[in-house]
Amino acid sequence: MRVLLIGGGGREHAMALSILKEGPELFSISPNKNPGIFRISKRNLIGNENDTQVALNYALKVRPDIVFIGPEGPLASGTTDILTAHGFKVFAPSSKAAKLETSKTFLRNLMNEKGIAGNIESFSFIDYRGASEFIDKIDYEFVIKPDGLTGGKGVMVQGFHFKNKEEGKNILRRYFEQGINKILIERKESGEEFSLQAFVNGNNIEFLPTVQDYKRAGEHDEGPNTGGMGAICFSTRQLPFVPEGYIKSAGDILRKIVSAMSDDGNDYVGPIYGQFMATREGPKVIEINSRLGDPEAINVLSLMNQSLLEVGVLMMEGKGIKLDFRPRINVLRYLVPIGYGDNPRPSKLAIDEIGLLMKGLKLFYASVNSRGRYVMQTRSRSLGILSEGITIEEAVQNFRDMEDMIEGEYYMRRDIGDPSVIAKKNEYMATLLKK
Ligand code: GLY
Repeated sequence: MRVLLIGGGGREHAMALSILKEGPELFSISPNKNPGIFRISKRNLIGNENDTQVALNYALKVRPDIVFIGPEGPLASGTTDILTAHGFKVFAPSSKAAKLETSKTFLRNLMNEKGIAGNIESFSFIDYRGASEFIDKIDYEFVIKPDGLTGGKGVMVQGFHFKNKEEGKNILRRYFEQGINKILIERKESGEEFSLQAFVNGNNIEFLPTVQDYKRAGEHDEGPNTGGMGAICFSTRQLPFVPEGYIKSAGDILRKIVSAMSDDGNDYVGPIYGQFMATREGPKVIEINSRLGDPEAINVLSLMNQSLLEVGVLMMEGKGIKLDFRPRINVLRYLVPIGYGDNPRPSKLAIDEIGLLMKGLKLFYASVNSRGRYVMQTRSRSLGILSEGITIEEAVQNFRDMEDMIEGEYYMRRDIGDPSVIAKKNEYMATLLKK
Protein backbone atom coordinates (compact mmCIF):
# COMPACT_ATOMS: atom_id res chain seq x y z
CA MET A 1 0.00 0.00 0.00
CA ARG A 2 1.16 3.54 -0.74
CA VAL A 3 0.39 6.35 1.66
CA LEU A 4 0.88 10.10 1.29
CA LEU A 5 1.21 12.21 4.44
CA ILE A 6 1.17 16.01 4.38
CA GLY A 7 2.82 18.04 7.16
CA GLY A 8 6.20 18.21 8.87
CA GLY A 9 5.64 18.73 12.62
CA GLY A 10 5.66 16.55 15.72
CA ARG A 11 2.06 15.49 15.13
CA GLU A 12 2.94 14.35 11.61
CA HIS A 13 5.98 12.42 12.88
CA ALA A 14 3.62 10.58 15.27
CA MET A 15 1.11 10.02 12.43
CA ALA A 16 3.90 8.65 10.21
CA LEU A 17 5.06 6.22 12.91
CA SER A 18 1.51 5.02 13.48
CA ILE A 19 0.88 4.59 9.73
CA LEU A 20 4.14 2.66 9.37
CA LYS A 21 2.96 -0.07 11.77
CA GLU A 22 1.14 -1.58 8.78
CA GLY A 23 4.30 -1.57 6.66
CA PRO A 24 3.14 0.60 3.73
CA GLU A 25 5.36 2.73 1.50
CA LEU A 26 5.23 6.21 2.95
CA PHE A 27 5.52 9.34 0.81
CA SER A 28 5.49 12.72 2.48
CA ILE A 29 5.32 16.43 1.79
CA SER A 30 6.68 18.76 4.44
CA PRO A 31 7.86 22.37 4.53
CA ASN A 32 10.96 21.34 6.50
CA LYS A 33 13.38 18.41 6.42
CA ASN A 34 12.00 16.69 9.51
CA PRO A 35 14.57 13.93 10.18
CA GLY A 36 11.98 11.67 11.82
CA ILE A 37 9.65 11.75 8.83
CA PHE A 38 12.47 11.89 6.27
CA ARG A 39 14.13 8.69 7.44
CA ILE A 40 10.96 6.58 7.32
CA SER A 41 9.61 7.95 4.04
CA LYS A 42 10.31 6.21 0.77
CA ARG A 43 10.39 9.72 -0.63
CA ASN A 44 9.99 13.10 1.07
CA LEU A 45 9.17 16.22 -0.89
CA ILE A 46 10.18 19.48 0.73
CA GLY A 47 7.61 22.00 -0.44
CA ASN A 48 4.77 24.28 0.53
CA GLU A 49 2.35 22.02 2.39
CA ASN A 50 -0.51 24.49 1.80
CA ASP A 51 -0.12 24.61 -1.97
CA THR A 52 -2.82 22.42 -3.49
CA GLN A 53 -0.96 22.18 -6.80
CA VAL A 54 2.18 20.85 -5.07
CA ALA A 55 0.04 18.17 -3.37
CA LEU A 56 -1.78 17.27 -6.58
CA ASN A 57 1.37 17.00 -8.69
CA TYR A 58 3.04 14.82 -6.08
CA ALA A 59 -0.03 12.61 -5.66
CA LEU A 60 -0.26 12.15 -9.44
CA LYS A 61 3.39 11.07 -9.38
CA VAL A 62 3.36 8.69 -6.40
CA ARG A 63 -0.26 7.47 -6.73
CA PRO A 64 -1.11 6.94 -3.04
CA ASP A 65 -3.92 4.58 -2.02
CA ILE A 66 -4.80 6.95 0.80
CA VAL A 67 -3.77 10.45 1.91
CA PHE A 68 -3.50 11.82 5.46
CA ILE A 69 -3.22 15.53 6.24
CA GLY A 70 -1.86 16.77 9.59
CA PRO A 71 -2.10 20.58 9.78
CA GLU A 72 -5.00 22.95 9.23
CA GLY A 73 -3.34 25.01 6.46
CA PRO A 74 -3.75 22.42 3.68
CA LEU A 75 -7.34 21.76 4.79
CA ALA A 76 -8.16 25.45 4.55
CA SER A 77 -6.51 25.80 1.15
CA GLY A 78 -8.60 22.94 -0.28
CA THR A 79 -6.05 20.12 -0.60
CA THR A 80 -8.69 17.50 0.25
CA ASP A 81 -11.04 18.96 -2.37
CA ILE A 82 -8.54 18.90 -5.22
CA LEU A 83 -7.17 15.44 -4.39
CA THR A 84 -10.67 13.98 -4.01
CA ALA A 85 -11.72 15.54 -7.32
CA HIS A 86 -8.83 13.64 -8.95
CA GLY A 87 -9.99 10.33 -7.46
CA PHE A 88 -7.67 10.06 -4.44
CA LYS A 89 -8.96 8.82 -1.08
CA VAL A 90 -8.26 11.45 1.56
CA PHE A 91 -8.90 10.82 5.25
CA ALA A 92 -9.35 14.50 6.04
CA PRO A 93 -12.23 16.97 5.78
CA SER A 94 -13.08 19.03 2.72
CA SER A 95 -12.48 22.79 2.98
CA LYS A 96 -16.26 23.18 3.46
CA ALA A 97 -16.30 20.74 6.40
CA ALA A 98 -13.10 22.26 7.80
CA LYS A 99 -15.04 25.52 8.26
CA LEU A 100 -15.68 24.20 11.77
CA GLU A 101 -12.12 25.32 12.41
CA THR A 102 -11.48 27.94 9.74
CA SER A 103 -14.47 30.06 10.79
CA LYS A 104 -15.28 30.29 14.49
CA THR A 105 -18.50 32.14 13.54
CA PHE A 106 -19.58 29.19 11.39
CA LEU A 107 -19.19 26.85 14.38
CA ARG A 108 -21.04 29.13 16.82
CA ASN A 109 -23.91 29.67 14.34
CA LEU A 110 -24.19 25.94 13.60
CA MET A 111 -24.40 25.12 17.32
CA ASN A 112 -26.99 27.84 17.87
CA GLU A 113 -29.13 26.90 14.88
CA LYS A 114 -29.16 23.20 15.78
CA GLY A 115 -29.60 23.79 19.52
CA ILE A 116 -26.40 21.90 20.39
CA ALA A 117 -25.46 22.12 24.08
CA GLY A 118 -22.10 23.52 25.19
CA ASN A 119 -22.07 26.70 23.10
CA ILE A 120 -20.59 29.90 24.53
CA GLU A 121 -22.17 33.35 24.27
CA SER A 122 -20.40 34.80 21.27
CA PHE A 123 -20.82 37.77 18.91
CA SER A 124 -18.84 38.54 15.79
CA PHE A 125 -17.82 41.96 14.48
CA ILE A 126 -16.39 43.21 11.23
CA ASP A 127 -15.16 46.58 12.47
CA TYR A 128 -13.57 48.15 15.50
CA ARG A 129 -16.45 50.53 16.21
CA GLY A 130 -19.13 47.84 16.49
CA ALA A 131 -16.88 45.66 18.65
CA SER A 132 -15.82 48.43 21.02
CA GLU A 133 -19.41 49.67 21.47
CA PHE A 134 -20.40 46.12 22.34
CA ILE A 135 -17.60 45.84 24.90
CA ASP A 136 -18.80 49.06 26.56
CA LYS A 137 -22.18 47.43 27.18
CA ILE A 138 -21.22 44.02 28.57
CA ASP A 139 -20.79 43.32 32.28
CA TYR A 140 -18.72 40.13 32.05
CA GLU A 141 -15.09 39.25 31.34
CA PHE A 142 -14.48 38.38 27.72
CA VAL A 143 -12.24 36.67 25.20
CA ILE A 144 -11.10 38.11 21.85
CA LYS A 145 -10.89 35.58 19.05
CA PRO A 146 -10.06 36.15 15.38
CA ASP A 147 -12.59 34.30 13.21
CA GLY A 148 -9.98 32.48 11.11
CA LEU A 149 -6.84 30.42 11.70
CA THR A 150 -4.27 31.78 14.13
CA GLY A 151 -2.14 28.72 14.93
CA GLY A 152 -3.45 28.83 18.52
CA LYS A 153 -1.80 32.19 19.11
CA GLY A 154 -4.50 34.81 18.40
CA VAL A 155 -6.92 34.21 21.26
CA MET A 156 -6.71 36.82 24.04
CA VAL A 157 -8.34 36.22 27.41
CA GLN A 158 -9.23 38.91 29.94
CA GLY A 159 -7.36 38.37 33.19
CA PHE A 160 -4.52 36.58 31.38
CA HIS A 161 -3.60 38.60 28.30
CA PHE A 162 -5.29 41.91 29.09
CA LYS A 163 -6.64 43.42 32.28
CA ASN A 164 -9.66 45.52 31.40
CA LYS A 165 -11.97 46.76 28.65
CA GLU A 166 -9.53 49.48 27.53
CA GLU A 167 -6.67 47.03 27.06
CA GLY A 168 -9.06 44.65 25.28
CA LYS A 169 -10.06 47.43 22.91
CA ASN A 170 -6.41 48.15 22.14
CA ILE A 171 -5.94 44.53 21.09
CA LEU A 172 -9.07 44.72 18.95
CA ARG A 173 -7.87 47.91 17.27
CA ARG A 174 -4.51 46.31 16.53
CA TYR A 175 -6.14 43.17 15.11
CA PHE A 176 -8.39 45.16 12.76
CA GLU A 177 -5.43 47.35 11.73
CA GLN A 178 -3.46 44.18 10.93
CA GLY A 179 -6.20 43.25 8.46
CA ILE A 180 -8.16 40.64 10.45
CA ASN A 181 -11.63 41.12 9.02
CA LYS A 182 -13.82 39.34 11.54
CA ILE A 183 -13.40 39.05 15.32
CA LEU A 184 -15.50 37.31 17.93
CA ILE A 185 -16.07 38.57 21.45
CA GLU A 186 -16.98 35.67 23.71
CA ARG A 187 -17.97 35.36 27.33
CA LYS A 188 -15.01 34.10 29.36
CA GLU A 189 -15.63 30.69 30.92
CA SER A 190 -13.76 29.26 33.91
CA GLY A 191 -12.65 25.71 34.48
CA GLU A 192 -10.07 23.22 33.25
CA GLU A 193 -9.61 22.66 29.54
CA PHE A 194 -9.50 19.27 27.89
CA SER A 195 -9.16 17.99 24.32
CA LEU A 196 -11.39 15.23 22.98
CA GLN A 197 -10.35 13.89 19.59
CA ALA A 198 -12.16 11.44 17.32
CA PHE A 199 -12.09 9.85 13.87
CA VAL A 200 -15.17 10.47 11.77
CA ASN A 201 -16.89 9.38 8.60
CA GLY A 202 -20.34 10.94 8.32
CA ASN A 203 -22.25 9.73 11.36
CA ASN A 204 -19.65 7.13 12.30
CA ILE A 205 -17.47 8.53 15.10
CA GLU A 206 -14.74 6.78 17.13
CA PHE A 207 -13.37 8.60 20.17
CA LEU A 208 -9.80 8.81 21.46
CA PRO A 209 -8.80 9.24 25.13
CA THR A 210 -8.96 12.78 26.50
CA VAL A 211 -5.82 14.86 26.71
CA GLN A 212 -4.91 18.15 28.35
CA ASP A 213 -2.75 20.51 26.32
CA TYR A 214 -0.56 23.07 28.13
CA LYS A 215 -1.07 26.09 25.90
CA ARG A 216 0.78 28.88 27.65
CA ALA A 217 4.47 29.43 26.97
CA GLY A 218 5.59 29.76 30.59
CA GLU A 219 5.52 27.49 33.63
CA HIS A 220 2.45 27.79 35.87
CA ASP A 221 0.49 28.84 32.77
CA GLU A 222 2.07 32.24 32.36
CA GLY A 223 3.02 34.07 29.19
CA PRO A 224 1.52 34.09 25.71
CA ASN A 225 -0.55 31.34 24.15
CA THR A 226 1.30 28.94 21.90
CA GLY A 227 0.44 26.02 19.64
CA GLY A 228 0.87 23.86 22.76
CA MET A 229 3.93 23.28 24.97
CA GLY A 230 3.06 19.72 25.90
CA ALA A 231 0.21 17.48 26.96
CA ILE A 232 -0.84 14.73 29.35
CA CYS A 233 -3.04 11.73 28.71
CA PHE A 234 -4.35 9.15 31.17
CA SER A 235 -5.27 6.68 28.40
CA THR A 236 -8.56 4.90 29.08
CA ARG A 237 -8.87 6.58 32.48
CA GLN A 238 -10.21 10.08 32.08
CA LEU A 239 -8.29 13.14 33.24
CA PRO A 240 -8.60 13.23 37.05
CA PHE A 241 -9.74 16.87 37.17
CA VAL A 242 -12.52 16.48 34.60
CA PRO A 243 -15.73 15.50 36.40
CA GLU A 244 -17.36 12.18 35.67
CA GLY A 245 -19.86 12.35 32.86
CA TYR A 246 -18.24 15.39 31.20
CA ILE A 247 -16.34 13.29 28.65
CA LYS A 248 -19.52 11.55 27.60
CA SER A 249 -21.33 14.90 27.30
CA ALA A 250 -18.43 16.31 25.28
CA GLY A 251 -18.60 13.24 23.02
CA ASP A 252 -22.35 13.81 22.55
CA ILE A 253 -21.63 17.42 21.55
CA LEU A 254 -19.05 16.32 18.95
CA ARG A 255 -21.43 13.64 17.66
CA LYS A 256 -24.20 16.23 17.27
CA ILE A 257 -21.89 18.65 15.48
CA VAL A 258 -20.81 16.10 12.85
CA SER A 259 -24.36 14.85 12.49
CA ALA A 260 -25.58 18.44 11.97
CA MET A 261 -22.96 18.77 9.24
CA SER A 262 -24.29 15.61 7.53
CA ASP A 263 -27.86 16.89 7.79
CA ASP A 264 -26.72 20.01 5.95
CA GLY A 265 -25.15 17.90 3.20
CA ASN A 266 -21.66 18.66 4.46
CA ASP A 267 -20.38 15.21 5.53
CA TYR A 268 -17.36 15.31 7.80
CA VAL A 269 -14.53 12.84 7.09
CA GLY A 270 -11.27 12.48 9.01
CA PRO A 271 -9.99 13.43 12.44
CA ILE A 272 -11.76 16.05 14.53
CA TYR A 273 -10.80 17.60 17.81
CA GLY A 274 -12.91 19.46 20.31
CA GLN A 275 -11.27 21.75 22.78
CA PHE A 276 -13.58 21.92 25.77
CA MET A 277 -13.70 23.75 29.07
CA ALA A 278 -15.01 21.77 32.04
CA THR A 279 -17.18 24.47 33.65
CA ARG A 280 -19.62 24.36 36.57
CA GLU A 281 -22.43 23.97 34.02
CA GLY A 282 -20.83 21.11 32.11
CA PRO A 283 -18.44 21.00 29.14
CA LYS A 284 -18.40 24.08 26.91
CA VAL A 285 -16.90 24.23 23.43
CA ILE A 286 -13.88 26.54 23.26
CA GLU A 287 -13.25 25.58 19.65
CA ILE A 288 -13.46 22.70 17.20
CA ASN A 289 -10.48 21.80 15.04
CA SER A 290 -10.76 19.78 11.87
CA ARG A 291 -7.64 17.70 12.47
CA LEU A 292 -5.76 15.99 15.28
CA GLY A 293 -4.23 18.27 17.90
CA ASP A 294 -0.53 18.92 18.12
CA PRO A 295 0.74 17.69 20.59
CA GLU A 296 -2.44 15.79 21.56
CA ALA A 297 -2.05 13.41 18.59
CA ILE A 298 1.36 12.33 19.85
CA ASN A 299 -0.06 11.24 23.23
CA VAL A 300 -2.97 9.25 21.85
CA LEU A 301 -1.43 7.69 18.74
CA SER A 302 1.42 6.39 20.90
CA LEU A 303 -1.11 4.54 23.07
CA MET A 304 -3.45 3.36 20.31
CA ASN A 305 -3.09 -0.33 19.45
CA GLN A 306 -4.49 0.12 15.94
CA SER A 307 -2.51 1.96 13.30
CA LEU A 308 -3.73 5.25 11.87
CA LEU A 309 -3.62 3.58 8.45
CA GLU A 310 -6.01 0.83 9.53
CA VAL A 311 -8.35 3.44 11.00
CA GLY A 312 -8.32 5.57 7.85
CA VAL A 313 -8.81 2.67 5.45
CA LEU A 314 -11.66 1.06 7.42
CA MET A 315 -13.45 4.32 8.12
CA MET A 316 -13.23 5.40 4.49
CA GLU A 317 -14.82 2.07 3.54
CA GLY A 318 -17.69 2.99 5.86
CA LYS A 319 -16.75 0.24 8.31
CA GLY A 320 -16.66 0.52 12.10
CA ILE A 321 -13.46 0.03 14.07
CA LYS A 322 -13.14 -0.66 17.77
CA LEU A 323 -10.17 1.32 19.05
CA ASP A 324 -8.23 0.27 22.12
CA PHE A 325 -5.35 1.84 23.99
CA ARG A 326 -2.48 0.67 26.16
CA PRO A 327 -3.36 1.50 29.78
CA ARG A 328 -0.47 3.88 30.36
CA ILE A 329 -0.26 7.51 31.38
CA ASN A 330 1.89 9.63 29.11
CA VAL A 331 3.41 13.07 29.24
CA LEU A 332 4.70 15.02 26.25
CA ARG A 333 7.01 18.00 26.65
CA TYR A 334 7.96 20.15 23.67
CA LEU A 335 11.40 21.72 23.36
CA VAL A 336 11.10 25.09 21.66
CA PRO A 337 13.49 27.88 20.68
CA ILE A 338 14.32 30.40 23.40
CA GLY A 339 11.71 33.20 23.28
CA TYR A 340 9.06 30.98 21.61
CA GLY A 341 5.62 32.57 21.77
CA ASP A 342 6.92 36.15 21.55
CA ASN A 343 10.23 36.40 19.84
CA PRO A 344 11.76 32.99 19.06
CA ARG A 345 15.51 32.81 18.53
CA PRO A 346 16.28 29.55 16.70
CA SER A 347 19.58 27.79 17.22
CA LYS A 348 21.01 24.35 16.54
CA LEU A 349 20.60 21.20 18.61
CA ALA A 350 22.51 17.93 18.82
CA ILE A 351 20.47 15.01 20.11
CA ASP A 352 21.61 11.79 21.72
CA GLU A 353 18.80 9.64 20.33
CA ILE A 354 20.11 6.38 21.81
CA GLY A 355 20.49 7.98 25.24
CA LEU A 356 16.86 9.14 25.15
CA LEU A 357 15.71 5.70 24.07
CA MET A 358 17.69 4.06 26.89
CA LYS A 359 15.84 6.27 29.36
CA GLY A 360 12.52 5.06 27.93
CA LEU A 361 11.82 8.39 26.23
CA LYS A 362 10.37 8.65 22.74
CA LEU A 363 11.52 11.44 20.48
CA PHE A 364 9.29 13.21 17.95
CA TYR A 365 10.90 15.68 15.58
CA ALA A 366 8.84 18.79 14.91
CA SER A 367 9.55 22.01 12.97
CA VAL A 368 13.27 21.47 12.56
CA ASN A 369 15.57 20.93 9.61
CA SER A 370 18.09 18.15 9.57
CA ARG A 371 21.69 19.33 8.98
CA GLY A 372 24.19 16.50 9.35
CA ARG A 373 24.49 15.59 13.02
CA TYR A 374 22.49 18.67 14.06
CA VAL A 375 18.95 19.85 13.71
CA MET A 376 18.30 23.52 13.07
CA GLN A 377 15.38 25.00 14.94
CA THR A 378 12.83 27.17 13.14
CA ARG A 379 10.63 29.74 14.92
CA SER A 380 8.23 26.97 15.90
CA ARG A 381 8.34 23.90 18.18
CA SER A 382 11.44 21.73 17.81
CA LEU A 383 11.26 18.34 19.52
CA GLY A 384 8.57 16.46 21.41
CA ILE A 385 9.77 14.16 24.17
CA LEU A 386 7.25 11.57 25.34
CA SER A 387 7.45 9.59 28.54
CA GLU A 388 5.00 7.03 29.84
CA GLY A 389 4.34 5.11 33.04
CA ILE A 390 1.74 3.27 35.03
CA THR A 391 1.49 6.33 37.27
CA ILE A 392 2.02 9.99 36.49
CA GLU A 393 4.96 10.03 38.94
CA GLU A 394 6.63 7.26 36.96
CA ALA A 395 5.95 9.05 33.67
CA VAL A 396 7.59 12.31 34.75
CA GLN A 397 10.53 10.65 36.50
CA ASN A 398 12.01 9.63 33.14
CA PHE A 399 12.54 13.29 32.27
CA ARG A 400 15.21 13.53 34.94
CA ASP A 401 18.65 14.02 33.33
CA MET A 402 16.99 14.16 29.92
CA GLU A 403 18.50 17.59 29.33
CA ASP A 404 22.01 16.08 29.32
CA MET A 405 21.04 14.34 26.10
CA ILE A 406 20.24 17.45 24.13
CA GLU A 407 23.00 19.92 23.38
CA GLY A 408 22.14 23.48 22.40
CA GLU A 409 19.85 26.29 23.45
CA TYR A 410 16.19 25.58 24.00
CA TYR A 411 13.32 26.06 26.41
CA MET A 412 11.00 23.42 27.82
CA ARG A 413 8.23 23.67 30.44
CA ARG A 414 9.26 21.38 33.28
CA ASP A 415 5.89 21.54 35.04
CA ILE A 416 4.04 19.57 32.37
CA GLY A 417 2.74 16.41 34.03
CA ASP A 418 4.11 17.44 37.44
CA PRO A 419 1.88 15.59 39.95
CA SER A 420 1.74 18.64 42.27
CA VAL A 421 0.37 20.75 39.39
CA ILE A 422 -2.23 18.07 38.67
CA ALA A 423 -3.19 18.01 42.37
CA LYS A 424 -3.77 21.79 42.16
CA LYS A 425 -6.01 21.31 39.12
CA ASN A 426 -8.02 18.71 41.09
CA GLU A 427 -8.41 21.15 43.99
CA TYR A 428 -9.37 24.02 41.68
CA MET A 429 -12.09 21.96 39.99
CA ALA A 430 -13.41 20.67 43.32
CA THR A 431 -13.73 24.27 44.59
CA LEU A 432 -15.30 25.49 41.34
CA LEU A 433 -17.93 22.76 41.39
CA LYS A 434 -18.81 23.42 45.05
CA LYS A 435 -19.47 27.17 44.52
N1 GLY B 1 -2.82 21.76 20.72
C1 GLY B 1 -3.48 22.80 20.06
C2 GLY B 1 -3.81 22.56 18.65
O1 GLY B 1 -3.45 21.56 18.07
O2 GLY B 1 -4.49 23.39 18.07
